[in-house]
Amino acid sequence: MGKSSKDKRDVYYRKAKEEGWRARSAYKLLQLNEQFGLFNNIHRVVDLCAAPGSWSQVLSREIFKNERSDAQIVAVDLQPMAPIDDVVTLQADITDPRTLDKILHIFGGEKADFVCSDGAPDVTGLHDLDEYIQAQLVLCALRLATCLLKEGGTFVAKIFRGRDIDLLYSQLGFLFEKVVCAKPRASRGTSLESFIVCIGYRPREGWKPDLQPELSTEEFFQNMDIGRARLHEDLRVDYEERKVAPFVACGDLKTSYDSDASYSLDTKVTHSLDPVQMPTDPPYKRALEMKRQGQLRGK
Ligand SMILES: C[S@@+](CC[C@H](N)C(=O)[O-])C[C@H]1O[C@@H](n2cnc3c(N)ncnc32)[C@H](O)[C@@H]1O
Repeated sequence: MGKSSKDKRDVYYRKAKEEGWRARSAYKLLQLNEQFGLFNNIHRVVDLCAAPGSWSQVLSREIFKNERSDAQIVAVDLQPMAPIDDVVTLQADITDPRTLDKILHIFGGEKADFVCSDGAPDVTGLHDLDEYIQAQLVLCALRLATCLLKEGGTFVAKIFRGRDIDLLYSQLGFLFEKVVCAKPRASRGTSLESFIVCIGYRPREGWKPDLQPELSTEEFFQNMDIGRARLHEDLRVDYEERKVAPFVACGDLKTSYDSDASYSLDTKVTHSLDPVQMPTDPPYKRALEMKRQGQLRGK
């Protein structure tokens, strides 16, 4: 599919380019904020899996418009990111425990009010493997969030509502006062993608989360009594422990677009718009260089 046909088919993709957002995902965070008022009184913010940076752009715009000039935003991604006003970018892996120290160092040892993660691994095409890796990425973001958040803080993360998602809801219920599963209009209705919005972080008194890579989820959450479904003696999972989080569709039905619908472009618009920010160091760059130098076989 050419760039211009995507412009026509996906209204959020086009609108993001017109309004200067690096990715259409910006609208998902904006719509989550409309519903939950996420950005009130937040001071230290961590955007995990942030590249190319549209969530960081939203955070920077919304937080600094209230003239909180002492606010701090840290954006973390495996990929390098082009700079964004008032955002410290960190090229790091959220599954690596050293990333926690790097973030805390930037905050001068202080805890964060808000941690979000829009993480998605590279897909392999093997459905079960992709689902498993995505679930592990969410758990890594959650572990990091438990080490970073101050009491009362908020955690927002992208999830895919797969088979075992109710187990995650139940784990989150032990850690936060309120857990809601939200689907912004900008997220395609045909996709299993949703966002967990976890408000009011309340770790059990005395619990000190410890980010060691070799710890299983169960070991990490020990003393919080969560992290595993109880097994019956015959090894069946005890479903009584499982929970369903309330589900909210957000994004104004009147003013926001349906991301699964096609809208006709203004008749004056005949061309596709350029990306707001070209990738800084895309994986295909080396392949292109090799091709130019004749080091790649093929057409
Ligand atoms: C959908 S994109 C995020 C889009 C971003 N929220 C925005 O608005 O521009 C998912 C990102 O997750 C990142 N990612 C995946 N695994 C990661 C990991 N282990 N550590 C850090 N970032 C990771 C990818 O590099 C990718 O940039």
